[in-house]
Amino acid sequence: MSKPLPGRMTRQQPDRILIATTNPGKVRELQASLGILARWSTLLDFPGLPKVEEDGKTFAENAAKKACGYAKATGLWTISDDSGLEIDALGGLPGVRSARFAGVDGPDRRAIDLANIDKVLGLLKDVPWQQRTARFVCHVCLASPDGILAEASGTLEGLICLEPVGENGFGYDPIFFVPALGRTVAQLDQDQKNAISHRGKAIKALLPRLRALLSDPTPDMPAAGNCGS
Ligand code: IMP
Repeated sequence: MSKPLPGRMTRQQPDRILIATTNPGKVRELQASLGILARWSTLLDFPGLPKVEEDGKTFAENAAKKACGYAKATGLWTISDDSGLEIDALGGLPGVRSARFAGVDGPDRRAIDLANIDKVLGLLKDVPWQQRTARFVCHVCLASPDGILAEASGTLEGLICLEPVGENGFGYDPIFFVPALGRTVAQLDQDQKNAISHRGKAIKALLPRLRALLSDPTPDMPAAGNCGS
């Protein structure tokens, strides 16, 4: 076994990688994009784990916090994403507050999604079509228990519909219209969504780094970043 180099990261080939979410919509998308590179666990496999608070001011801060927190708690390399919707007419809201924008919480994700959609449509009721520009944003972070290994981000530009259309996906998908496709994200199947989505793009940007790390988990290079205290 090679000796760790002074001042450098010590990494072990991971047995499995943790996808740090319990959101089944996100798990489906992340696993489809990440493919068979490794064996995956999700937070659903660690029911007793204390939740890492998402109290950062940016998607990048929250993604790093989650990846580092859950990597330390489980000892596993961990991929997290933090994502959300930025609506120009609302000054970028709901932004990092996307998940619980309407103040509804609890186990019923569909009820939360419907309340969030209702709130957005209410706030935009007098905003004309051309001014309903918005984007989905996703920041992904890969961390080991020692620190951040890689990060990437992706966006998807679109318009907020006047009413929900489509049954697929999750969250704000039914009200997010993609002009280039003439459909909402909720009218796309999983592969179509992954090909254009903010999350799909972020993961695609992260993949070369993840592949390199998996083929040489103890590279002679410093970590991409640290997790703070
Ligand atoms: P978080 O990344 O788990 O903090 O929450 C992100 C929230 O943003 C989700 O709960 C959704 O409401 C919304 N969101 C993020 N990505 C998507 C997406 O791909 N489609 C629809 N809504 C999304």
